[in-house]
Amino acid sequence: MILYLLNFLYLNSFTRGIFKWILRIITGKCELLRIVYSKEPDLLKILNIESSLRLSKSRKLNHVHISDNLDDKKLVQDIITEKSINIQYHSRFVVPMELYLSQISGYHKLTREVEHLRKIPYSSENSEHEDLLMKLWNKLNPGVKLPSRKTVLWEDIGFQGKDPATDFRGMGMLGLNCLVYLSLCHTETARYLLSHSHHPKYGYFFAIVGINITSVAYQFLMRGKLRSHFYAAVKKKPLMSDFYRIFIHFYYEFDKYWMSKQPDSIMEFERIRTEFEQIMLNLLESNNVPLQFTFI
Ligand SMILES: *[C@@H]1O[C@H](CO)[C@@H](O)[C@H](O)[C@H]1NC(C)=O
Repeated sequence: MILYLLNFLYLNSFTRGIFKWILRIITGKCELLRIVYSKEPDLLKILNIESSLRLSKSRKLNHVHISDNLDDKKLVQDIITEKSINIQYHSRFVVPMELYLSQISGYHKLTREVEHLRKIPYSSENSEHEDLLMKLWNKLNPGVKLPSRKTVLWEDIGFQGKDPATDFRGMGMLGLNCLVYLSLCHTETARYLLSHSHHPKYGYFFAIVGINITSVAYQFLMRGKLRSHFYAAVKKKPLMSDFYRIFIHFYYEFDKYWMSKQPDSIMEFERIRTEFEQIMLNLLESNNVPLQFTFI
């Protein structure tokens, strides 16, 4: 109850101001300095810095999660000026703060990039899209030439008909990019999954399931479920490849789960996918530890 009240008072901007002022007088440090110097694990520090900045009254500081092209070095300078931090006493503040800020702004930027890519529909008119699709084919079936652009051979890598263009649906170019990254950068894993998808009893559609697993990773990202993973495990400005690796992790784990369930047919996909999603969610929420990648 008392904690609840304290928490309420802290989030209330007026009383929060008083709290911070009192703490600043007692410790001689502003909130951000206290966070950076605390003995908490990095993940907690970053989460605390993020909410401190969001609640900040300064326009320069409370934009970290929405502005692109943020210069993290400059932002640290802004903080130093705004908070009148004496840099001679607090040289230990700058380097870790720059890293934390690049993780925070990078994570939010990545979220926007993922959403941007998802919104781009696959277009057969676009030669870049077509090239990516051909890359996917060639990496998975080296030496096998497609007789024509529209062919049932696409079904070998788990598309639904003669033309993959219609299979990306809600995931757009994000779905294709995930599959291409998997095939290009983790070719062994891709071929391993592809071979499982051809299993005589427990086979599935490699590309369609991959696009669906993209949506699992995408939705977790949008719901903020991957934030702790990024802050704890990616100790730099995160890139798209960091998202693609999460996708590969989920796909690899999904395949393991699917195989272990020995499903009667692909009709069980929805049920098994829902179970899988819940297991991953519990993992992400329960211990707040980063995902442990096991794929090759
Ligand atoms: C993924 O599969 C589920 C269950 O079958 C379905 O409801 C959902 O629409 C699919 N999402 C995508 C993007 O394919």
